[in-house]
Amino acid sequence: MSEEMPREALTQLLRWYADMGVDLAVDDIPHDRFAESQSPEKAVPPALNPPRAVAPPARVAAPAPVRITAPPPRAEDLVLEAARAETLEDLRAQLLVFEGCGLKGTATQLVFSDGNPEADVMLVGEAPGADEDRIGRPFVGRAGQLLDKMLATIGLDRTKVYIANVVPWRPPGNRTPTPIETGACLPFTRRQIEIVAPKILICLGAPSMQTLLGIKEGIMRSRGRWVDYNCGGTIIPAMAMLHPAYLLRQPSHKKFAWQDLRELAKKLRDASATS
Ligand code: URA
Repeated sequence: MSEEMPREALTQLLRWYADMGVDLAVDDIPHDRFAESQSPEKAVPPALNPPRAVAPPARVAAPAPVRITAPPPRAEDLVLEAARAETLEDLRAQLLVFEGCGLKGTATQLVFSDGNPEADVMLVGEAPGADEDRIGRPFVGRAGQLLDKMLATIGLDRTKVYIANVVPWRPPGNRTPTPIETGACLPFTRRQIEIVAPKILICLGAPSMQTLLGIKEGIMRSRGRWVDYNCGGTIIPAMAMLHPAYLLRQPSHKKFAWQDLRELAKKLRDASATS
């Protein structure tokens, strides 16, 4: 097919696929289905295509020794264990063997966190995108670059914040994670927040706000409002902000992000004055 299609048309087709969210290969090698369907073997219906004679094995191999291996950990046990993880490394290791969220099957790798685990501010986004999935760190794509600029306006950078997502695996085609997916990962996200024990929690975007703060109303109404978050028994202030990816699409709403950033800067000043 590529011989018949000019390069530019092919490029546009690929771009269109990517825009529609078709950006995952389902196999390691490409298959030319057109050629396959025209091959004489494939053209004959399977029932009329007699199996080839297979020579019998020269000698019967001895049965392989039975090896008893431990069954893989059950998702519900890992969730219980996650609630007891003492360190971020433990929690990360548990996520690496957790099979309770289907997104793991399509993502390239776990995207656990970035920034400083000792920071006073923890930001929790939605889910890794294509760049994060490739690099393995949250917020490294265009939205991440805008986030860095936003943080810089109030004197913050990645040495002064800790960043994670409500799901640590990329949803195919960057779709929004479903409540089932965010719910499956919630015990891990909650424990991650408890271990970091920030003074302030910021939810970036509606899925993070809904999952962590349980707020059901729209983010335009709820952003910029401080609410209590129970961080393992300690109540800390939490606020939802507009997601930087949304701000890239709606630059006129950056004014709201600016208001929220100033709120955050003020809260941080108050928190350091009282500690
Ligand atoms: N958007 C998110 O919510 N998280 C990322 O890590 C990247 C983009």
